[in-house]
Amino acid sequence: MNQYRRILVVDDDLAMREMLTSMFNEEGYAATSACSADEAIEISKDQEYDAVLSDIKMPGKSGIELVAALRELRPETPVVLMTAFGSIDSAVEAMRSGALDYVTKPFEPEVVLVAMERALERRALEQENRQLRRALDQTSQLGDLIGTSPAMREIFALVRRVAHNRSSVLITGGSGTGKEVVARTIHFHGSRADKPFVPINCTAIPEGLLESELFGHVRGAFTGAHASKRGLFEQASGGTIFLDEIGDMPPGLQSKLLRVLQDREIRPVGGTHTIPVDVRVIAATNKELREEIDRGAFREDLYYRLNVIPIHIPPLAERPEDVPPLVEAFLARHSDGEPRTVSSEAMKALCAAEWKGNGRELENLIERALALTDRPELQVEDLPLEGAAESAAGGIAERLHSCAVRRLTLEELQDLYIDEVMALHNGNKVHAAAALGIDRKTLYRRAERRAKREAQQSSEAAATGGSPAQA
Ligand SMILES: Nc1ncnc2c1ncn2[C@@H]1O[C@H](COP(=O)(O)OP(=O)(O)OP(=O)(O)O)[C@@H](O)[C@H]1O
Ligand SMILES: [Mg+2]
Repeated sequence: MNQYRRILVVDDDLAMREMLTSMFNEEGYAATSACSADEAIEISKDQEYDAVLSDIKMPGKSGIELVAALRELRPETPVVLMTAFGSIDSAVEAMRSGALDYVTKPFEPEVVLVAMERALERRALEQENRQLRRALDQTSQLGDLIGTSPAMREIFALVRRVAHNRSSVLITGGSGTGKEVVARTIHFHGSRADKPFVPINCTAIPEGLLESELFGHVRGAFTGAHASKRGLFEQASGGTIFLDEIGDMPPGLQSKLLRVLQDREIRPVGGTHTIPVDVRVIAATNKELREEIDRGAFREDLYYRLNVIPIHIPPLAERPEDVPPLVEAFLARHSDGEPRTVSSEAMKALCAAEWKGNGRELENLIERALALTDRPELQVEDLPLEGAAESAAGGIAERLHSCAVRRLTLEELQDLYIDEVMALHNGNKVHAAAALGIDRKTLYRRAERRAKREAQQSSEAAATGGSPAQA
């Protein structure tokens, strides 16, 4: 494999040149020689060498000057210099000049070979690093996390860095910015990936049940506790617990959580013993926790415990570069079969939209647009762009009025109301379902049924030559 590695030998001494070139060639390298720095520079203009071995003292330009010239011309090529025995000065000068290494004359052939081998290895490593870095810079995805904006790239780097330790992470950002996606990516890129990732939404569970949900309970701890039950912290053992909407955790539980984080052990409700737990805690909130602290709703000491590594996701509107890769990903995720596309006009419109509900709103919109038309390339008019966000402003009454040409079915009326509630909650299905008093699965099932119904209506309308049903 050495034959692919090119070495340039530079020395004014013919015997030395020939000795070195033939030695390298025998070792399987492709060695070429030059008798002066100027000649070396000339041939380096046409040919890139993997490493250069040069004498320092030569008539004309010295080896040191050659190093300087090559750093301009071929910054990636390492240079090893040959210095005269006992000349400490030139050795020091050699290293200062930017040469990678030096060997002292006279030398054993072995010493030169090893020095060149090291130089070549170093170059290979640097090339590899550069390639990796380039590949990383170009990817717009880390796990399920998508984005190319500087802010997102910074988050990618942070996620990679923290994935392998156990420090608590606090993820902040508006609704739908992808906080849970970030949490999952941290978990699945770290050493805990094969252990459980346990998410819990602090608002979705009644206050009275949250403690036993988190820490478990012993039999008879309270009415109805017929058997003891392991809490989520125990279930997450060795893995990660994701405390979503931490800003809404009741104060009483905040102090219990603080104790768990400090002591790394839990006490089940009604229990007398504590159980050690090894769990990484990732918390998320779309509240300004500082404000919550100021008004006494959130414990400052808990905040500091959780906020060891803060990750803030800015609103999507502040990072429009992320819209195209997100659109691509959502199209792939929600198209049946071959992913459909959007026209460049449509993409422009998407990049310019406000996205109050951030990535989630964008995803919901793409999903709906795909259900509403069969076109392989979605056009601007296929995008229910003023849909979610503005239907809240328009209100249900107005939309009912505009539908007055025919009576709505009960199902359609419900859909209208669901739209309104969804918009009020920025497309957050958990919150919307809670507000509607149904569970999230019911909401999903309804959405699926509706997409099917609307798709059918629009294909029927297309078949009868009428205009497609309006959403
Ligand atoms: N940067 C992103 N990369 C990939 N998916 C994203 C991104 N941003 C948003 N999403 C999508 O948006 C949806 C919402 O993401 P997620 O649940 O993580 O948001 P969130 O910040 O936790 O929102 P909330 O505060 O409302 O709970 C997900 O379906 C996810 O696929
Ligand atoms: Mg969330």
